[in-house]
Amino acid sequence: MAMAHRLVGGLVVVVALACFYSSEAQLQVGYYNSTCPGAEDLIQTIVHGAIRMDSGNGPGLIRLFFHDCFVRGCDASVLLDDPNPNPGGNATVEKTAPPNLSLRGFGVIDRAKRVVERRCPGVVSCADVVAFAARDAARIMGGVKFAMPSGRLDGRVSNASDAVANLPPASFNLTQLVTRFASKNLTADEMVTLSGAHSIGRSHCSSFSSRLYPQLDPTLNSTLGRKLRARCPAAPGRHDRVVQLDDVTPLQLDTQYYANVVTHEAVFASDQALVDRNDTAALVAAYAGNRKLWSQRFADAMVKMGSIEVLTGPPGEVRLQCNKVN
Ligand code: HEM
Repeated sequence: MAMAHRLVGGLVVVVALACFYSSEAQLQVGYYNSTCPGAEDLIQTIVHGAIRMDSGNGPGLIRLFFHDCFVRGCDASVLLDDPNPNPGGNATVEKTAPPNLSLRGFGVIDRAKRVVERRCPGVVSCADVVAFAARDAARIMGGVKFAMPSGRLDGRVSNASDAVANLPPASFNLTQLVTRFASKNLTADEMVTLSGAHSIGRSHCSSFSSRLYPQLDPTLNSTLGRKLRARCPAAPGRHDRVVQLDDVTPLQLDTQYYANVVTHEAVFASDQALVDRNDTAALVAAYAGNRKLWSQRFADAMVKMGSIEVLTGPPGEVRLQCNKVN
């Protein structure tokens, strides 16, 4: 009896600890329902207007969420400006790190935050604004609808070196991709699923030019390879041009990306690498022919990505302006 008691007691402690450490358990759908009703609607209106003005904001906001969550967790650290910029000096904050120089959508986040601040001062975190905006962009660009749990706090630290160390480059092979996503508690399947975001948006030539020169990467469809070479010269000069990630349906968040991977028409080595293992290749093929399956899994994976290392207590804070700590 005493033994059973101890066992049950131990179980309670284990469950309690699991809840304490599981960030997912701490976020909540409708977290602002009572403290800032209408916040999610306000943000959605801003995001909608921004994408109507410039469709590039859609992919920009989805990528911003990924780059926020992979570096120090989803804490809006990617939005912080350097408080003492040193002209010509080394990169300091995340947004000055090379993988973040091509991010888009900062202005949309600032606008959305200003509008919710006017309605409810000091209530809605920048990290949640980023997460809501990415969710809204997925709905607007692809009809992928889902609830985004919230209640994240904003971090007070941003280091360029953390961005370089945590964001995967497009040259990664499958093993490296799987390992990097596993370090964020995301499975290989979820990595494949989230890569579907590359069905919208663009890339600079410099992110994939090693597939074009000196030789065309043999895993790249040669017609596409020649087209990309024409667009991206070997000696680019100062101007780094851009190409669409999915030439077939560039403005549609859909499963065309997976069809492109199957036919070797994906832009990055990291995209093409998804077919280098039987299990991930099977998932690519399944998604290519099943939009419903992909969009459900994409929604779930976005929510899970949104729970990476979230702050729900000190030293987290609700920043008043997204580009600086309080
Ligand atoms: C699997 C590992 C990934 C790698 C190696 C990778 C790499 C890249 C690179 C190099 C670019 C182009 C940057 C440029 O040159 O302008 C890009 C663009 C983009 N990525 Fe990824 N990415 C990955 C995963 C993801 C994930 C998980 C998401 C979101 C769920 C995402 C969303 C996007 C979007 C939407 C764009 C287009 C951005 C725009 O048009 O502004 N990526 N990615």
